[in-house]
Amino acid sequence: MANILVTGGAGFMGSWLVDILLDKKHNVINVDDLSGGFRRNINKHSTFYKIDLRNKEKVNKLFLENEIDIVYHLAAYAAEGQSVFTPIAINESITIPMDNLLVASVNTNVKKFIFASSMSVYGTQRLPFNEKYLRSPEDPYGIAKAYCENMLENFYDAHGLNYTIIRPHNVYGPRQNIYDAYRNVLGIWMNRILRGKPPIIYGDGEQKRAFSYVEDSMISFANAGFLKKSDAEIINLGSPEIVTINKACRLVLDAMGSDLEPIYMKGRPQEVKYAYSTTKKSEELLNHKNMHSLKEGLEEMVEWVNKVGCKEPIYGLPLEILKNAPEVWVKKMM
Ligand SMILES: NC(=O)c1ccc[n+]([C@@H]2O[C@H](COP(=O)([O-])OP(=O)(O)OC[C@H]3O[C@@H](n4cnc5c(N)ncnc54)[C@H](O)[C@@H]3O)[C@@H](O)[C@H]2O)c1
Repeated sequence: MANILVTGGAGFMGSWLVDILLDKKHNVINVDDLSGGFRRNINKHSTFYKIDLRNKEKVNKLFLENEIDIVYHLAAYAAEGQSVFTPIAINESITIPMDNLLVASVNTNVKKFIFASSMSVYGTQRLPFNEKYLRSPEDPYGIAKAYCENMLENFYDAHGLNYTIIRPHNVYGPRQNIYDAYRNVLGIWMNRILRGKPPIIYGDGEQKRAFSYVEDSMISFANAGFLKKSDAEIINLGSPEIVTINKACRLVLDAMGSDLEPIYMKGRPQEVKYAYSTTKKSEELLNHKNMHSLKEGLEEMVEWVNKVGCKEPIYGLPLEILKNAPEVWVKKMM
């Protein structure tokens, strides 16, 4: 049994990870400031601390009071598209917690640090994205994630902090925040469809993604703490099923039994058109198995969405730049 810190454990992916680690009988310390997560996601068998990880003193105290063996760092304001218009707040939510956690980990002899990075660090490169490529991010979210990866590699070289960097692809499923107007495209569509509004597609809808079911992803994510073969590695994680946004939208409408048709709006600046990556390394080093097709995963998500119901969207972090921002965001039309 290990003492494990999960950051972002009231969020979507973090709460699935907490459940998986508790099922394996580990002791889980769960930290979240609830800025983007939900109290209902907090597993009662974890020890919960409401802490803003940007606060260095609180992070140090947390590490001194708990003998942490493994850190899984997932907390962040995870909004890639919005980061173009909210660069300051999103950068702060990604880079400051990372620095605080890294320093505290070295000072308290943490054995392994697993970081939830992102495919956004690839930017636009030859597909599928391969772990051997250099980082080449094209938006503030990706730039901040690339900074964190760099720091982790530096802490490995300078202080011997063992790590795995995981780059998940578009993760979706039950417990995802479907009420934030700025992020999580499948959830935004579902929340609109439940309110009788057509889903919005930016651009021509021919963008390609590999949407990945949360349970499949988080089982492999959890494995990173315990598989030596994943030490000091960068690993893409997600589904091999590549779909266009048009196809994904059709599958969502079908899963919800809706007759609505999508509406098309101007493409978003700096949106990477094609983003999917290799899966071989995750299969070899994290024992990854893709168990849900997109159709099957969407059925699970829709069943949950029907239970939690729809709401008027929340415009979470305020936009810092309005110039060229999508009209539906500026005029709060979501
Ligand atoms: N969902 C995806 O498709 C995806 C893909 C690639 C990478 N990621 C990364 O995985 C991680 C989890 O994403 P998610 O989709 O579960 O997002 P989420 O918003 O559901 O979870 C993030 C959690 O972090 C918490 N948080 C944010 N800032 C914090 C702070 N300063 N201190 C403490 N807690 C804070 C939020 O309250 C939230 O509960 C993020 O780092 C994200 O960048 C997500």
